[in-house]
Amino acid sequence: AVNLRGRSFLKLLDFSSAEIRYLLDLSKNLKDLKRAGVVNKTLEGKNAVILFAKDSTRTRCSFEVGAMDLGMGVTYLGPTGSQMGKKESIADTARVLGRMYDGIEYRGFEQEIVEELAAHAGVPVWNGLTNEFHPTQMIADLLTIEEKLGRLKGVNFVYMGDARNNMGNSLMVACAKMGLNFTACAPKELFPAEELVATCEAIAKDNGCTITLTEDVMAGTKNADVIYTDVWVSMGEPVEVWEARIAQLKPFQVNKSVMDNANPEAIFMHCLPAFHDTKTTTGKEMAEKFGITEMEVTDEVFESKQSVVFDEAENRMHTIKAIMAATIGQ
Ligand code: CP
Ligand code: NVA
Repeated sequence: AVNLRGRSFLKLLDFSSAEIRYLLDLSKNLKDLKRAGVVNKTLEGKNAVILFAKDSTRTRCSFEVGAMDLGMGVTYLGPTGSQMGKKESIADTARVLGRMYDGIEYRGFEQEIVEELAAHAGVPVWNGLTNEFHPTQMIADLLTIEEKLGRLKGVNFVYMGDARNNMGNSLMVACAKMGLNFTACAPKELFPAEELVATCEAIAKDNGCTITLTEDVMAGTKNADVIYTDVWVSMGEPVEVWEARIAQLKPFQVNKSVMDNANPEAIFMHCLPAFHDTKTTTGKEMAEKFGITEMEVTDEVFESKQSVVFDEAENRMHTIKAIMAATIGQ
């Protein structure tokens, strides 16, 4: 039987397919309970601290609501306001927080930082996004695909855009682990790193699925069951990269012709936040600077019936709850 008690959740590569399956089933369970209005304070008496060196809406709120629902206390520390990373090292911070809390969430820059926290904390550490990986998002995405399509194995999953970022990396691992055929549809320069591709190819082989990297949009999205994309420039990247990224990724925008080329029942997914209009500060800025009002996805696709992005966002909460319950619960 699967037992994740005491484990950190740093990247999906550390988890077996059976362990991921266990987290998906627990997520479904907790979602059903929440929907039925059943109170389930299984983490009563415990406390979690959530550290954010980068901004967040979904991840932060999922950890906070999840913790409160399960009866647990929760402290938020933002990019400023604590000693971490300035006057105090990660290792010292970890040893202090580990004395006070039962679990620690961290969102920030290099994967090494969250790994170091986990090495010194003495309690489970959950990765809430690093430059390299976004593992809690993966459990939500897999749950959403299974809810919408009724299966994971054999699903044709296509990721378009910056396939070298945390989402491209994580989705390739998630697909390989759970038997989905993964295609990265992107310019060569933004394919995932060769070493990670090789690791995932070996995992995919064991699980009877494939990894494909292509620059050909029509060939890549043919027979797709899921079309997934993410922002063209990620948090922490310098503003100077915008111009080049737009030029590189314009051909890989998810628009109606892409969706029409996929399977008729295909769904559209995005971890969010998404750039699809000019109703945001960044949106206005990009329109002024580059004359572009839609980026990785058109407003038409984002608002279409095929788009499941808000169900996906809700699932962040149910799945993060499952990750906390499995690792620090009884
Ligand atoms: N998808 C996601 O992680 O969103 P936030 O940045 O709002 O947490
Ligand atoms: N690639 C994006 C994901 C946001 C959830 C970023 O890192 O900004």
